[in-house]
Amino acid sequence: MNYNKKTVKDVDVKGKKVLLRCDFNVPMAKDGSGVITDDKRIRAALPTIQYLLDQGAAVIACSHLGKPEPSFDKWAKKQAEKGKDPASLTKEKWEKTLEALCMEPVAKRLSELLGRDVVLAADVVGPDAQAKAAALQPGQIMLLQNTRFEKGETKNDPELAKAMAGLAGADGVYVSDAFGAVHRAHASTAGVAAYLPAVSGFLIEKELEIMGGALANPKRPLVAILGGSKVSSKIGVINHLLDIADTIIIGGGMAYTFAKAQGGSVGTSLLESDWLDYCNDMIAKAKEKGVALLLPEDNLCAAEFSADAVPVLHSAMTIPDDMMGMDIGPKTIEAYAAAVKNAGTVIWNGPMGVFEFPSFAEGTRAVAKALAETDAITIIGGGDSAAAVAQLGFADKMTHISTGGGASLEFLEGKELPGVACLLDK
Ligand code: 3PG
Repeated sequence: MNYNKKTVKDVDVKGKKVLLRCDFNVPMAKDGSGVITDDKRIRAALPTIQYLLDQGAAVIACSHLGKPEPSFDKWAKKQAEKGKDPASLTKEKWEKTLEALCMEPVAKRLSELLGRDVVLAADVVGPDAQAKAAALQPGQIMLLQNTRFEKGETKNDPELAKAMAGLAGADGVYVSDAFGAVHRAHASTAGVAAYLPAVSGFLIEKELEIMGGALANPKRPLVAILGGSKVSSKIGVINHLLDIADTIIIGGGMAYTFAKAQGGSVGTSLLESDWLDYCNDMIAKAKEKGVALLLPEDNLCAAEFSADAVPVLHSAMTIPDDMMGMDIGPKTIEAYAAAVKNAGTVIWNGPMGVFEFPSFAEGTRAVAKALAETDAITIIGGGDSAAAVAQLGFADKMTHISTGGGASLEFLEGKELPGVACLLDK
């Protein structure tokens, strides 16, 4: 696919201020220590940042981090709905949740990776951000506070978008390199493009060229491996890929709804009863289109959802009433690995089982290994599958690992991505 949006190479940024939206939504240690456990998304933004600085731009970077609730009242309401004692819901507690999502650790890591200072603003469009943006010189970089600290961010409030654009000044430029967030129509990912010339960075260009190419003009056979827990979250992808792929492989929790729909017994496995008809429709559509739809033949099961549970092998269609499927079994692994071996292109989104538990990681590991060994072009959707590939040590063997979880999923569904649609066409 030819990427048809303007990029940083199509605009002159010398001496200008560039508002750069990145996806620095990185995983943080759960102990509140502020340690970033995976800095891949920060590293992925470096080529664009370095290019802009080398060109003599002053870079005002911004990103969201986590899902903070910027209104105390709404936060308290949500917590109360979750069953928390209303008397315990103090302003101090709410402020702590915001503090945990401040951009300090990101600024520090970015500064280490760039080998230069990163000025951190205390707010997003407030007095500190305005003063620091005004003082920023060509070749310097600053980072705004978490964009989701502003109430207008997720609402795509035009006033906020305008204020953010204003930081870059009258001849400013907006660059988006936040591939992981392009499926969000927020003020910083889409709204701001109404107020500044808007182009993409190298990461968005690369993600869309590789994934777009795999869908528009794939080296065949095109094999899509879809896993993860819920059929309901993969409907759009299955439906869209049935028009494009040669083979669709189903694994993970959603396979049990397919097995049930086919008349199997799935015991206490994950099941979405409302989606049984849908599964049968997809099986029928695959037949009609001549797409091979591969479902598990056997599953490793357990009596309880626990890392210590003893794995027991059962046929996928006859899981006992008191057992739940936790992984694909050896026959399934063999069939799936064979399909991957003969593929021209493989797109993988979603693990095959509960890979976080070592006893039930083999299916996901074997599929990752098959991808690592095939000559096919291998593309890993972000989120859990990217984490699995990294955790299992196969990351450097893949053609492309997307930095976007939800974004790559929506792309595979064939949906328009608002954070891309808003950029200038070539
Ligand atoms: C992600 O982690 O997938 C992106 O950063 C988007 O985050 P969000 O789901 O909170 O919008």
